[in-house]
Amino acid sequence: MIIVQISDFHHRSDGKLIRGIVDPEKALRTTIDHIRAMTPHPDVVLVTGDIHNKSDDPNYGAVRAHLDRLDAPYYVVPGNHDDHEALRAAFLDLGYLPQGKGFLQYVIDEHPIRLIGLDTVIPGNFMGRLCAERLGWLEERLQEAPTKPTLIFMHHPPFKTGIDFMDECPFEGQEALSSIISYNPQIQRLVCGHLHRPMEARIGCTLASTAPSIAFQMSLDMRPGSKPSFILEPAAIPVYLWSEDTGLVAHMSVIGDYGPRHAFKSETRS
Ligand SMILES: [Fe+2]
Ligand SMILES: [Fe+2]
Repeated sequence: MIIVQISDFHHRSDGKLIRGIVDPEKALRTTIDHIRAMTPHPDVVLVTGDIHNKSDDPNYGAVRAHLDRLDAPYYVVPGNHDDHEALRAAFLDLGYLPQGKGFLQYVIDEHPIRLIGLDTVIPGNFMGRLCAERLGWLEERLQEAPTKPTLIFMHHPPFKTGIDFMDECPFEGQEALSSIISYNPQIQRLVCGHLHRPMEARIGCTLASTAPSIAFQMSLDMRPGSKPSFILEPAAIPVYLWSEDTGLVAHMSVIGDYGPRHAFKSETRS
């Protein structure tokens, strides 16, 4: 089973560039084309939030037109830039998002690895949280299938980065989440977005990771007091392989044209 993660589109309904530099529409189109060209084709695509950029009214229909070109089921969770109810309305007919006004959390249990999407958003706030209600829901879902390999996906990462401007807003609920993970070894990994850089950290007895953005990357600046800045490093998408033989292996596929593959020719020995 091949799982692709795409994150932090920051799509704009008005068609304008982000900060006058980044074209999120082009980034999304290029990413979907990249995934469509993958061989073997992914079985599942996880969309880990900040789908919209919050600069204007969201147009999730325009985003969906891109996502519907994926020849694979895709599952969305909200980020801090997203509008919960507009997001729910736009994707509700796909059948996995809960109806009503509650959190956008759900389980996908039709693949070899169980997928749990979590809602880490605090409305109107930049930071992430898993409150008692959301964590209680997670515990119940994990108890349903304690031996089935499980992957959790969500927007905000539950770890500090060592980059000051990213750590200004700590994740609420990190200790409780870590405790739940420690007695649920079926969790293979937590995959997150939000930070616009590839990172990994241990939480409980598993790994948590963040994906690059498909649109623009945050700068790697570990100087004390670093100020927020972004950089046009290449976009990339995590690609996870799950099999009985390998377990869960994380790869990274860089978006862009880097030319053909070059075969290693056998060298003649003199
Ligand atoms: Fe983002
Ligand atoms: Fe975010």
